Amino acid sequence: MEKLVIYGGERLRGRVPISGAKNAVLALMPAAILAPGVHRLRNVPRLRDVWTMMELLDALGCRCRLEGNELVLDTSTLQTVHAPQELVRRMRASFYVLGPLLARYRRAEVPLPGGCAWGPRPVDLHLKGLQALGAELELCDGYVCATAERLRGTEIVLDFPSVGATGNLLMAASLAHGRTVIRNAAQEPEIVQLGEFLRQMGARIRGLGTSVVEVEGVEELHPASIEVIPDRIEAATFLLAAAITGGEVTVEPARPEHLEAVLQQLERVGARLHVKPNCIELSMEGAPLPSHIVTAPFPGFPTDVQAQWTALMLRAPGVSSVTDAIYPDRFKHVPELQRLGAQIELQGNTAVVTGGRPLRGNRVVSSDLRASAALILAGLVAEGRTEVLEIHHIDRGYEAIERKLQQLGARIERVGVQD
Ligand code: UD1
Repeated sequence: MEKLVIYGGERLRGRVPISGAKNAVLALMPAAILAPGVHRLRNVPRLRDVWTMMELLDALGCRCRLEGNELVLDTSTLQTVHAPQELVRRMRASFYVLGPLLARYRRAEVPLPGGCAWGPRPVDLHLKGLQALGAELELCDGYVCATAERLRGTEIVLDFPSVGATGNLLMAASLAHGRTVIRNAAQEPEIVQLGEFLRQMGARIRGLGTSVVEVEGVEELHPASIEVIPDRIEAATFLLAAAITGGEVTVEPARPEHLEAVLQQLERVGARLHVKPNCIELSMEGAPLPSHIVTAPFPGFPTDVQAQWTALMLRAPGVSSVTDAIYPDRFKHVPELQRLGAQIELQGNTAVVTGGRPLRGNRVVSSDLRASAALILAGLVAEGRTEVLEIHHIDRGYEAIERKLQQLGARIERVGVQD
């Protein structure tokens, strides 16, 4: 058990390296199942969620080796299509193995992923889409048992542009017979990268990054390699860390086109930005202005930055609102921010923040990945000592966050918890 201890008040300055995108890697790894053989992923972040996906692929009989930041994945040794419940429960993205197992091996047994800290997260769109492709699905003992002779291409209209459902269907459709059209598809950069990886494997996909994606199924795919895109959520978190502390920070590598909604809001609240093709510099003088944001699917403001933005608005004198339209229950960080003195009122799926008041260090508990990031940001500006407990959550999605923050001048350290 470890915690982070932060002494607030330092303005962050300098340059911080951004790791590969967690949500991209978690889709790319299962995609390798579609083509038995040795795949290589470069720029893979060393994160707990990546270990979990490696464990899951290992449990299926694949061989995964992470050497530095290169992941070598041998899927030719796959032995079973049964995904262990314990691993899928631990991480919702494990559900990504369903589409590729079914498409490649005609069968899959994958447990329903549980709810998570911020409420139920169904997988009905994944299942409906696979059924439309011709899969027979049965629910037994919490498992989805799926079979299909060969999936058949079809037209699928998603009720919501779900990232996970789009990913699963793209993978499944790549080996289906005939043409699949996915309407209202997710346009997130991680889905675009998944599509690009599938293309490298020989898949025929058009329309990536738009709401209509077309897949012409092929008979077989071959192993491929790809460099993982920089993590836009990590980059956003460091830009917000710079903004909240009134600092001056460069994030690199970063793809500004993946971050437009966040950059636009940062400019609106008073940050100065200097954007180059592969990096973003941010400087901030004084307090941010209040703002009203609503999360939305890409290219809208990401739900994965909602908690951190709420922390930033604690510095903005006046009333701000932060609405999560994707996950209405994703506000576990609010009571913890209140322990630091934050004035936030929760009204349905909106956090109404009255900012500009001093925050005081305290002991807070993180409940999920992005909530932890919000608590760290608040700790960076709280007076005195803040302790963030349960930081295993942060290790799911941020590589060495305390070291990167130290590099920027923050007073933060990871210590073991004795009691
Ligand atoms: C992915 C990201 C997560 C991010 C989320 C939204 C990964 C590994 N995780 O999660 O970090 O917060 O996108 O950008 O990439 N929904 C349904 N039925 C479904 C699927 C989803 O109702 O079958 C709903 C969800 O409850 C939620 C919304 O759709 O309200 C978005 O979910 P989705 O886009 O699928 O998110 P994930 O892929 O789980």
